[in-house]
Amino acid sequence: MILNIKRFNQNSATKIEKFEVASNNETILNTLIKVKQTQDASLTFRCGCGSGVCGSCAIRVNGTEKLACKTTLRDNDLIEPLNYTTVVKDLVVDLNFEKDILSKPKAYLQEYKEEVITPEHEQIIDRQSNCILCQSCYSSCPVLEVNKDFLGPYALSRVLRYVNDKKEHQEKEKIDLIQTNGIWDCTLCGNCTMVCPQQIDPKMDIMNLRMKSIQWGYTDPNVMNSNTGVDFGFNPNNF
Ligand code: SF4
Ligand code: SF4
Ligand code: FES
Repeated sequence: MILNIKRFNQNSATKIEKFEVASNNETILNTLIKVKQTQDASLTFRCGCGSGVCGSCAIRVNGTEKLACKTTLRDNDLIEPLNYTTVVKDLVVDLNFEKDILSKPKAYLQEYKEEVITPEHEQIIDRQSNCILCQSCYSSCPVLEVNKDFLGPYALSRVLRYVNDKKEHQEKEKIDLIQTNGIWDCTLCGNCTMVCPQQIDPKMDIMNLRMKSIQWGYTDPNVMNSNTGVDFGFNPNNF
């Protein structure tokens, strides 16, 4: 079985390297570990839990974002690092930008207020709380190709999580902060939803945030406001 890996190191050009590996229904992560142990100790990749919990092993397999520890290797697979990141070496990317895109829209609990939290309320924020920050959705998003300042799917899902959190006192500020390079820049293509290993639905979360923004008085900047009556964008009546 052949495994193709896109290799990068600061001292040489990017290249695709082929490795011959045993065909035994292994995950990509286990195969990478074996290649490193037996063929090329310089092969560099990131992993932690080995069980789909830490999110550190996300890569692209034949162009689609996957967790290496949860994906079975197939013959001739091409393994590449995530998109829109700086590659440090081979499959390891620099994730320092993550702190920035979560802080810009204040995707965290800003001002805590005492509240009785019921199981029903926990349910509302449960799905987005399961994000493991694997960056798969971010890497799959076509908007980042043209707008590097776009907040991206997981940051926006996390904003919704805190906007819906009864303990948060500053939900309006979060809504204000996602109007530029945020919810209205999304094309609703759904790539993020398809690749998320945690079954989070950032596309739906973004649509919910659009609806909440309209309730707070914002309008979709993409909707043509003219007498033609032609509407090119989001319609709150769809919700
Ligand atoms: S639905 Fe929006 S956020 Fe998700 S990948 Fe498409 S453009 Fe990006
Ligand atoms: S939303 Fe899903 S794909 Fe995106 S970072 Fe979180 S777990 Fe990963
Ligand atoms: S190693 Fe933790 S998710 Fe894959």
